[in-house]
Amino acid sequence: MFEMQATFFYALPLKLFILIANSNPKSVITNPLLHYSITPTIQRNELPKPLNIFFVGDIVGQPGLELAINLVPSYVKKYEVDLLIINGENTTEGKGIAEEHAKKIFELGTHVITTGNHVWDRWDSRKVLGADRRILRPLNYPRENGGNGYIVVDLGEKGKAGVLNVQGRVYMQPIDDPFKTADWAIAKMNEETKVIFVDFHADASAEKMAMGWHLDGKVTACIGTHTHTPTADGRILPRGTAFQSDVGMTGPYDSVLGMKKEQALKRMVMQTPHKYEVALHDVRLCAVYVQADAETGRAVKMESVVFPAFG
Ligand code: FE2
Repeated sequence: MFEMQATFFYALPLKLFILIANSNPKSVITNPLLHYSITPTIQRNELPKPLNIFFVGDIVGQPGLELAINLVPSYVKKYEVDLLIINGENTTEGKGIAEEHAKKIFELGTHVITTGNHVWDRWDSRKVLGADRRILRPLNYPRENGGNGYIVVDLGEKGKAGVLNVQGRVYMQPIDDPFKTADWAIAKMNEETKVIFVDFHADASAEKMAMGWHLDGKVTACIGTHTHTPTADGRILPRGTAFQSDVGMTGPYDSVLGMKKEQALKRMVMQTPHKYEVALHDVRLCAVYVQADAETGRAVKMESVVFPAFG
């Protein structure tokens, strides 16, 4: 009987075949061969819902903040950004973030500010962290420090999206396990959304890559911060997670990682402390754009942004 049905349907012209199938979906379900033939036609009214994410790399000092204020609105327009995330760890004099600077970043339409190890260098950063849950600090620091490490943002028609800030341990403070911390937070956020962006603030490329593979298929994007140098390995991993070892800083590149090169050189050459100062010149914006499928949370597009480009 099954063979007879299949032969009959194959003998029909294609248009008629689809018409019959659409008008009687029950027959499709009872016949496995026809089910596989027709499924795309039936389900095409469920198009993927794109959700556009723009993540700006570590803003360093006033020069980085000014460039971000000048450029971010045009990128928001270009990519039709639904979720804007900015790492503000080094915004105020290169270390931490003061309330007035957080306010300026939020005025750009930023949904979440992420940070990292240097956020603790300013006492007033702690006040900011305690006052606004949209400003994240790495979740895997001891909870007694206060502050918030992850958040789920309501984007209205676009649904909800989670943002997580965790920090690596290689060449950094021996804080809690970032891998297990990320798994825990992702499970919590998955109760509300599958779209999850992770800012992994870490020093070692190996640890960042390991985190990328650990989170592949679990989050929309895992993007590294902290080393202030953009890497050329931005891509979507096989299970749908956008990854880049480091997004790079938004700040002055006539420098050593955003600090005046004269002082940084003295520290290296003389092996004694010399006061860091934020550099001023060759200011560039580094960012990544990721388009997510809002239903599945998978990344479907990714672009790395460096402006002006090097070279
Ligand atoms: Fe950092």
